[in-house]
Amino acid sequence: MNIDSLVRENIKKLKPYTSARQGYLHGILLDANENSFGSVVESELELNRYPDPNQNILREKLSSYLNVKKENLFIGVGSDEVIDLLVRIFCEPKEDNVIITEPTYGMYKVACDINNVDVKNVPLNSHFQLDVVAVQSNFNENTKLVFCCSPNNPTGNLLNKYDVLEIAKSINGLLIVDEAYIDFNEKGSVIELIIEQPNIVVMRTFSKAWGLAGIRAGYCVADKSIIDYLFKIKSPYNLNKMTADVILKALNNLSLRNSFIGKINMQKTRLIEILKQLKIAEQIFPSDANFVLVKFSNGKMIYNELVKKGIILRDRSNQLNLENCIRITIGNEEENKLLFKELELLNEKNIH
Ligand SMILES: Cc1ncc(COP(=O)(O)O)c(C=O)c1O
Repeated sequence: MNIDSLVRENIKKLKPYTSARQGYLHGILLDANENSFGSVVESELELNRYPDPNQNILREKLSSYLNVKKENLFIGVGSDEVIDLLVRIFCEPKEDNVIITEPTYGMYKVACDINNVDVKNVPLNSHFQLDVVAVQSNFNENTKLVFCCSPNNPTGNLLNKYDVLEIAKSINGLLIVDEAYIDFNEKGSVIELIIEQPNIVVMRTFSKAWGLAGIRAGYCVADKSIIDYLFKIKSPYNLNKMTADVILKALNNLSLRNSFIGKINMQKTRLIEILKQLKIAEQIFPSDANFVLVKFSNGKMIYNELVKKGIILRDRSNQLNLENCIRITIGNEEENKLLFKELELLNEKNIH
């Protein structure tokens, strides 16, 4: 597959901005109009200096954690930045289109809408799996990207790897697999497919299992040609030094991440056990993520009653095929105790 042929002409021709720190990170740095006297906030991070635009140390560390090459890695301000950059690299506004597979994460469509790129929705099948034939038949010469999400938000299930591979093999475009929740069941990852199938892009994030939603860091693993374009169009210093520092610390603390995953999975099992006993919970969808999607007898009512008690869930009932469905993020023991109590009370009242 020739990735270049999919890229917008203006992006191919673009002469990117060359930032000062692309050249030198050390020396007597009088090249970037920084404050040479220091920073008003003391820090070992030399906050008066711009960060490394090439994310070198970070990508090296991440590459050994993931066992992929550094040249196949790009780190963004959350995976939301990666989504936006991919749309801008590949999709000509008002001309090209993107396939999304609903119900799924809302930002794929929003990123396209912001960029004035047409979105075709090819719904997931009744098991919330990819409808391979429907994706293939909706794909046309102007389709540049297909976004899918595994484990899928908000349904919680992993997508079938063979379906992912079959679609990727059959399209002249990129298949982006958003693995924001893959840490909760790593066996489901498609990262290894990238080597045989260079049009697969895998996105990941530090916002979920790592507990770092506040630092805004996500990344993608992709063919080098795609990574090069991401670097070409990103804002010069997208990743700030504090975020980079926290990621490095996180990668040195795998055991805590693993213990979080263990605890979250345990609480998830407990939540599912409780839900199974409630008449108001009509369907509990299997989950490989840190949340569970539940179809209630009256989703809106349950949602509103819990809000009154200060418990905020995510009402997904307006999404395609998710009538009365609420997404419940797995809380800690304390939070869950309160949630279980309130759900049981609502069940006793049997709110319909
Ligand atoms: C599927 C999915 N992808 C991406 C994101 C956003 O990730 P980030 O925080 O890295 O921007 C989310 C956040 O909820 C998500 O559910």
